[in-house]
Amino acid sequence: MKMDLREKRAIVTGAGSGIGRRIAITLNALGVDLVICGRREEFLEATKEMCHGDAQVIPVVTDLTKEEEIEELVSTAVFELGGIDFLINNAGLAQSDPFDEIETEVWDRIMATNVRAPFLLCKNALPYLKNSGVGTIVNICSVVAHKGYPYQAAYAASKHALYGFSKVIANELYKENVRVHVICPGGVYTEMVKETRPDLDASGLMVPEDIADLVVYFLEHRNTNGVVDEISIHRPGKEPFA
Ligand SMILES: NC(=O)c1ccc[n+]([C@@H]2O[C@H](COP(=O)([O-])OP(=O)(O)OC[C@H]3O[C@@H](n4cnc5c(N)ncnc54)[C@H](OP(=O)(O)O)[C@@H]3O)[C@@H](O)[C@H]2O)c1
Repeated sequence: MKMDLREKRAIVTGAGSGIGRRIAITLNALGVDLVICGRREEFLEATKEMCHGDAQVIPVVTDLTKEEEIEELVSTAVFELGGIDFLINNAGLAQSDPFDEIETEVWDRIMATNVRAPFLLCKNALPYLKNSGVGTIVNICSVVAHKGYPYQAAYAASKHALYGFSKVIANELYKENVRVHVICPGGVYTEMVKETRPDLDASGLMVPEDIADLVVYFLEHRNTNGVVDEISIHRPGKEPFA
């Protein structure tokens, strides 16, 4: 039996664009109260404008590379929404360069955004997720969590790390009734893909709705006896089971 998501409370990171924006719009339409974050306030406000449901949408400008801003984000969610049921770690940063041309600062920023931030968010949100009764974490990984595509060394290393982190905490938390899921998408048509994979034909890519629908699947099936840990999803032109 699917869970009714109305009046549930979620944090969605990176909700000012792409996949995160679509996750926010979709969850809002299902009645989930949201705290959404990103660094660009005008992009968050635009997402809020696109949310036409009655549920709350609270933008919180946050740089997820800064621990104190993550703590503030979680505190704001708890204060404004009264708790946290779902944490959607979607924000991410990609790169496309031969590994020996990656600046150390870029490597560090990608790791801080894609791995350290989800770690700190999970840690800070955990007491509230445990208290929720339906506490759920969804980490947006990538096909590169399993692959070694050239010129994506920092990005692939960060997503391998996020994937490993997710597996460990899933095992630490399931007996405490907090579920952890991973989504590993291939190419989705967003700003990130336009910048890092201009070689890909836009018409053959997935769209953010494809990923938002999977987030909804995890949340609506929160209380079923069958548990799906991970979903991999790829564009139609990509070789299946590759
Ligand atoms: N597009 C794909 O093909 C694809 C495939 C597999 C996985 N993914 C994953 O899907 C997720 C969403 O990516 P997307 O494709 O939707 O790209 P996107 O449009 O570039 O979205 C990334 C979001 O992350 C936010 N972000 C980046 N650094 C941040 C920071 N330091 N603090 C707070 N927010 C930050 C950005 O907002 P601000 O710039 O405003 O901060 C932006 O809204 C990422 O984790 C990505 O790795 C994407």
